[in-house]
Amino acid sequence: MDAIRFEHVSFAYDRDFLAVDDISLNIQTGEKVAIIGQNGAGKTTTVKMMNGLLRPKSGKILVFGEDASKKTTATLSKMVGYVFQNPGDQIFNQTVYSEIAYSLKYLKIEKEEIERRVNAAAQMCYLSDELQTNPYDLPFSIRKFVTIASVVAMDADVVILDEPTAGQDLLGLLHQKEIIRKLHQLGKTVITISHDMEFVIENFDRIVVMADKKIIGDANKRDIFWDFDLLDKAALKQPVVAQLANRLELKRNIINIVDFVNEYEK
Ligand SMILES: Nc1ncnc2c1ncn2[C@@H]1O[C@H](COP(=O)(O)OP(=O)(O)OP(=O)(O)O)[C@@H](O)[C@H]1O
Ligand SMILES: [Mg+2]
Repeated sequence: MDAIRFEHVSFAYDRDFLAVDDISLNIQTGEKVAIIGQNGAGKTTTVKMMNGLLRPKSGKILVFGEDASKKTTATLSKMVGYVFQNPGDQIFNQTVYSEIAYSLKYLKIEKEEIERRVNAAAQMCYLSDELQTNPYDLPFSIRKFVTIASVVAMDADVVILDEPTAGQDLLGLLHQKEIIRKLHQLGKTVITISHDMEFVIENFDRIVVMADKKIIGDANKRDIFWDFDLLDKAALKQPVVAQLANRLELKRNIINIVDFVNEYEK
């Protein structure tokens, strides 16, 4: 079943200026998808329409087969969780615990269940020791995990991570890899926006490429990163290992070290 379906969707912040221009997209339940493309391409605008934070100017959006325009943002956010690009846009509680619990309280979920969910989400996001800390006393990189935990606790079927890797060190990246793996294992649909191609290649197979308000590519990573015309249009580069394979005229579609070594040793 399609978790998310866009049919000719456009969006404008101002009357005359389109930020997203006529995009169509299907994402299946349980799929992992990365959306990439240069600054201002329309990535964040696109995903904010998936949970009703923004509403399209034209076109149709279906969430699990249901017309999103007939649902409130509160209802949609129970189906599609969005972790903001900037944690500052999302965090406003005094402790990590109350931040993760906030939406659950709003939904009037009972106290024990809230406690259970907050603790589980905190554990999954490596925050069990920080539940009484003020989020703003934590470094930016850890604050991102607070916003991820808040969305995880909502238990939505779709989880969108907008630029999760910004400012993360190696341990942070490993923790995010684990979170994505666990969400996928739980059957969630995981959508990420990222400028970090290594992270994208390591954790995702399907890549959607946006440029200048449109989707210009949607395919497996091994095709995307060897489509020179597409990369050029989107102002993206091949990963270094693919560049090397290309220079050595090895097989196409090599995108990581394992691929490279396998081919080189043949
Ligand atoms: N709140 C806003 N008001 C007006 N214009 C906006 C607003 N947010 C984004 N835009 C514009 O809409 C276009 C798409 O922006 P969007 O944030 O979706 O891009 P993006 O692909 O997420 O970029 P980035 O990689 O920098 O996060 C850009 O031209 C941007 O300047
Ligand atoms: Mg963005």
